[in-house]
Formats: sequence, structure tokens, C-alpha cells
Amino acid sequence: MIMILDETKILKVNPDLSGEEDIEKIAYAAEIIKKGGLVAFPTETVYGLGANALDEKAVASIFAAKGREQDNPLIVHVSDSGDINKFAVADGNEKASLLFSQMPAPLTVILPKRDIIPLSVTAGLDSVAMRVPQNTVARKLIELSGLPISAPSANLSGKPSPTKAWHVIADMIGRADVIIDGGDCEVGLESTVISLCYETPRLLRPGGFTHEKLCELLGKVDISDAVLEKLKEGQKAESPGMKYKHYAPDTKVILVKGNGDKVKDFLGKKYSEENCGIICFDEDISERSGRILVMGNRKNEEEYAVKMFDALREVDRIPDIDTVYAVLPETTDGISLAIYNRMLRAAAFNIIEL
Ligand code: TXA
Ligand code: MG
Repeated sequence: MIMILDETKILKVNPDLSGEEDIEKIAYAAEIIKKGGLVAFPTETVYGLGANALDEKAVASIFAAKGREQDNPLIVHVSDSGDINKFAVADGNEKASLLFSQMPAPLTVILPKRDIIPLSVTAGLDSVAMRVPQNTVARKLIELSGLPISAPSANLSGKPSPTKAWHVIADMIGRADVIIDGGDCEVGLESTVISLCYETPRLLRPGGFTHEKLCELLGKVDISDAVLEKLKEGQKAESPGMKYKHYAPDTKVILVKGNGDKVKDFLGKKYSEENCGIICFDEDISERSGRILVMGNRKNEEEYAVKMFDALREVDRIPDIDTVYAVLPETTDGISLAIYNRMLRAAAFNIIEL
């Protein structure tokens, strides 16, 4: 079932809520949440499509609006880490406390669920993903609603996650009751997901809160195979979201990996073919044109992360191309692990190693 609503209200606010009517607008959106409606809102990672996590009907409408598979669980957002224990079992869990001490952060922690969270939120699992966003608008919305808000990324399933208001409007107009336009997202890729439901903590989805930082805090943290590898046939997904086609533009994406000189050589040849676009670092090509999307310089992977999903939407707006060659950072350190994780899926694991 796909629900098309007659009208979607778009509410523009200042990211710091300093505008005269900003609080009123968030209060309006919070009322919509309380009544069981759908509100798209900015977070520091990507925009979310939120509904009351305790209302099964509202939760069902999230799945309908996104066209999301029913077995893919949602993250529950609260405004204070002190609230997590109301919805997930965290008391006496030292590792959980260490993670909570870092929140708000672009970090989601998976813990055993409490009964108050409906099984529709967790897609039948007995664990629940909990997150405390940093973004001022997101926090105010949660506070004023007085409710835990379940929210996946506010894109149609399969599309790149939304990091700018126009991405959300393109996907969710007529599907959400309200879209809060609070400007661009600062991190640009979805939160790091770590599960504490294994003997050793396990990174299920890399993000802005890096694996290195998690290890500093918790000691050993395993990385799920699905982070950098395709699931094998019949293999169970530790994070159900990892098994679906994701982030893909209509244009074919081919990844390119190698050192600066080799990449420069390769792109120079490809660029002359005219039917292709290029996503690369500043140093990788000297030409500039509408077919080249520059992601900042090679030393600044954070900038690549911020621009990545926007670039994956932009390539479909470049006229007359059928393929885009996208350069990857040279290593998977730090936030680059998350860049690899998303780009590998956008490219259906199609990669050229130079
Ligand atoms: O940054 C974010 O996390 C954004 C913003 C809106 O907060 N949300 C987001 O949600 O990215 P979504 O639904 O697009 O991704 C949630 C991921 C999915 O891969 C899902 O399978 C996984 O988290 N997940 C949720 N609950 C889980 C659970 N109980 N066990 C394992 N994986 C879970
Ligand atoms: Mg998503």
C-alpha cells in the first residue's frame, strides 16, 4: 500500500531555531507526531521520516510512505540518553553507559528491546536500535512531542539518503504530512550502528562515529562482514538494511580505486569519452565541467562524506551520460570506511582497482 496525502506542509526553520516563528513551527510538527502523522526532519546525519514509535498505525505509515520492506527495522530517536533505558534494556550494561556518555552523536546502539516498543518498529526482532541526535531541530521535535520517534532516512527505499531539503521534497511530497526544512545535514551519511547484542560489540553500519573511536572507548569492536562485502546467498543479514539495493542513482556507477597518478591517468582517458560523468577529488582531474563533481581534496574525507549522497542524486541530472566513474579514498580508515560501505552498494560492488 502506498499512501498519497493531498497536502504536505513544508516548514522552513533556521538550523539553530533562532527565527521568530521557528519554535511554533516545531510545536506544530510535534502535534502532527502526537496525532499519528508523518514528519520529515533534519538530523546531523541525514533527514529522517519520523512517527510516534509507540503507535503501530503511525509506524506502518512510515513503511508505506517509503515503500520499505517490512523486515527492515527502524531506529528509535530520543532527546536524552537517560531515556534509552525506558525502551531498551541498558541498566548495568557498562559498554552501553560508555556509549551513552558520547551522546548526542551520530551513533546508534542496538540493545535488547523492552515490551513497550512494538514489534513493527523492530521488524519482529527482540532488539531495538536507539539514537540521540545532535541536531537542534531534531531534538526540539522529540522534546515537544514528548514521544520516542521512530525514523528511517527520509528517502524512497533504494534512493540515496537525503542530506538537503530538496532531496526530501523530491521523494516525500504527498507522502509525509510535514517536511521541516532545516538546511543541509552536517555529517552527510547515516549514523554509525553498533550492536551490543553480541559477546563482542559489533559494528553493523559505519558512519561519522568511526570504528577507531569506538575501539578507543570499548576495546575490541568487530566489523560485520556485510560492511565491505556482498552478502552471500542464504547468509543472514545482521543488519537487515544491508541486504537491499541501496543508494543507487539511475546512472550506472563504477568505482575507481588507486593512487593519485594512476587515477589521474585513468580519468583523463575516460573524460574524453563524453558519455560519462566523474565523481572525484580535486587533485584527480584538471578539467572542470558539468560532468565532473568534485568532492573536495584527497586529505579531507569528511567533505566527501558530506557531498556523497547529493552527488549520487546530481549524476542523474547530468544530461546525456550513462555511466559515472566515482573515485574512492585510498584507504578505509576513519570515515572512509563509511564512504566505501555506501559507494560499494550504490555501484552494486562494481569496482576497478588500478
Ligand atoms: O542517521 C541515521 O541513522 C538516520 C537518521 C534519520 O537518524 N536513520 C537511518 O535509518 O539511517 P535507516 O532506517 O535508513 O537505517 C537503519 C539501519 C538499517 O540498516 C536497519 O536494518 C538497521 O539500522 N537496524 C535497525 N534496527 C536494527 C536492529 N534491531 N538490529 C539490527 N539492525 C537494525
Ligand atoms: Mg536508509
